[in-house]
Order: sequence, then structure tokens, then C-alpha cells
Amino acid sequence: MGRDFVTLPKAEVHIHLEGCFEVDDIVRLASENGVALPRPRDQLLKVAGGLTEFLQFLDWICGLVRTRNQLAAAAYAFSNRMAKSGVGYADVIVNPTHWGQWRRNIPEMIAALDQGFAEAESDGLPAVGLCISLLRTQTADESVELVSLLSALRHPRVVALSIDGNETAAGRTGPRFAEAFRRAGAAGLKRTVHAGESSDASGVWDAIQLLGADRIDHGIRAIEDPKLVDELAKRQIPLGICPSSNVTLGLYPTLPDHPIEKLRRAGVPVSINTDDPALLGLRLENEYARCAEAFAWSDDEIRGLARTSITASFAAAETKRRLEMAVAAW
Ligand code: ADE
Ligand code: ZN
Repeated sequence: MGRDFVTLPKAEVHIHLEGCFEVDDIVRLASENGVALPRPRDQLLKVAGGLTEFLQFLDWICGLVRTRNQLAAAAYAFSNRMAKSGVGYADVIVNPTHWGQWRRNIPEMIAALDQGFAEAESDGLPAVGLCISLLRTQTADESVELVSLLSALRHPRVVALSIDGNETAAGRTGPRFAEAFRRAGAAGLKRTVHAGESSDASGVWDAIQLLGADRIDHGIRAIEDPKLVDELAKRQIPLGICPSSNVTLGLYPTLPDHPIEKLRRAGVPVSINTDDPALLGLRLENEYARCAEAFAWSDDEIRGLARTSITASFAAAETKRRLEMAVAAW
């Protein structure tokens, strides 16, 4: 029998709530709102094109979530998904720009999400931290406005400022967002930055040098710049890597071509994550299994990857300690 990756204690640190709606959820929400599906149900998740079309589909799905209860239920379902994959803690990315009903009422949005996560936690499901995200195509003013709002709100559920979206469409935007990220750091928020997916290694340099990233989402194209790989290893800046997402969205032809193993061997802290699991048809335990097979990882190496997911997370110190001890016992 193969190794059981559900029981492996781990954190998920790169996952978008927007990418966690199953077909059944989408069909139900569309029906509750009297909205027609854009494609037949059995082809609903078959998004033609690349990242741009994918992000537009997220807008459509999230636009179906209109009431506080619907949003709280999405948060609760997220925690349930984490529990089923043996995740002990998750940092979830939520980008208000995808949510038409909520983008101009972010405090209410955070309150509804918090309601769902808190209820889940009181039912014994894993703790979740919220990473509120900017979109790469937003303006500098919008980014500073979001950080002002988060700093004033000081909601305990919000652990980080994030930025995601399409860097190819936006061009170089590190300088545009530097001030917002500086203010977020000063307000005590962690900083996590999508880079080195739709941008090359230069996007990762900007994430470190201009945005003060505590963690990089993807970051895989750092492999194209040996100096950058050295820097990530030297400063121990973690990458939240999503191997199957990168293959599905066309960065690498197959999993064995993915640079995660080269980055790991170079001493960069790498973790395994799912990005948009429902839309991409992924489960975290299967991602560990697929990578373990592709890169012939030993039990020790797998424990190391799980440990990195925990240390790279924005969980409370006590949660980290508990999960790290559980990893050692796996
Ligand atoms: N938002 C959701 N998934 C994303 C991805 N893979 N890249 C950038 N932004 C995203
Ligand atoms: Zn992502």
C-alpha cells in the first residue's frame, strides 16, 4: 500500500477561495439567483484560453455569491475541504475584486467570511487565516485604499496582504504597489505576493525588493536566474508552489518538468499547494502523492515539505508548534 498523505500533518498556504467552488455549488448558486450557466454543466469547468479567461471565470462564479449566508457557507465549506485533506491550518487568499456583490463592502465581506470560518473552527475544523488580495491590474490609489481599510479594521481573521492576478496583462507593477505593501508591513500584516508565474524572475526580484514579500506564491520562474535562487535560499524566503496548477495553466508540459525539485535541492523553502483546487480538479493529498512519485521523495523528504508548509504559514506560534510535532510523528 502507498503512503497515506491525508494523515500527513500539513498546512495549505497557497489557495484561493475563488477556486474552491465545486460544480454542484456553482449550479446551485446560479439556480438560487436565476442566472444561466455559460456552458453545459458537464463542461462548466472547461475554461478555454489561459490565465486571463480563468480569472474572468472566477468573476462570474463569485458574482453568484450574494448573501451573507452564502458567503459564510463558502467559508465553512472551505474549512471542511481542508479537514478532508488532512490540513491542520490554511492561509486562504480572497480577492474582493472578483466578488461583485462585496468588492465595495469589504468590512461586511470579512465579517461574513469570519462567521463561516469561526463556526467551522468551533465544529473542530482547522483554523484559517485570511490573506486579502489586490489584483495586479488595480491602481496604486486602490492598493493604498485597501491597506488603509485593513489597517483601520484590524480584524483578527486577516493575517496578510496578498496580490494576485495576471502580471502579463499588467506589465511590471512592483513599483506601483510598493507603498501599499510598505504600509501593510508597518500595520503588522504579513505580505504574500504572486510572482514568477505570469512574470519571469524579475517579478520575483520585485516581490522581494519592492514589496517585502514574507512568502512568494508560485515563484517558480526564479529557477531561470541562479542569483535569485541563491538569494531565496540565503534569506529562506518560502515559495508556495502549486505544481499541477502550473502544468494545467501551461507553464510546464508535465510534472517531472516542474522546477520544484531543483528549487528544493538548492535550499529554497518550498511547499506543495493547490491554488484553485475545485476548478482544477485537485486534492492536496494527491498533489503530495504525485510529486513524491515524480521526484522519488523519501519519507524524510516528505516530512520536510510538510514542515516547510507549516513554518511558511501565517498560523499562530502555538498552532505551528503543535503541527510540527505531529509531522515528526508521521
Ligand atoms: N487567482 C486565482 N488563481 C490565480 C493564479 N493561478 N494566478 C494568479 N491569480 C490567480
Ligand atoms: Zn494563486
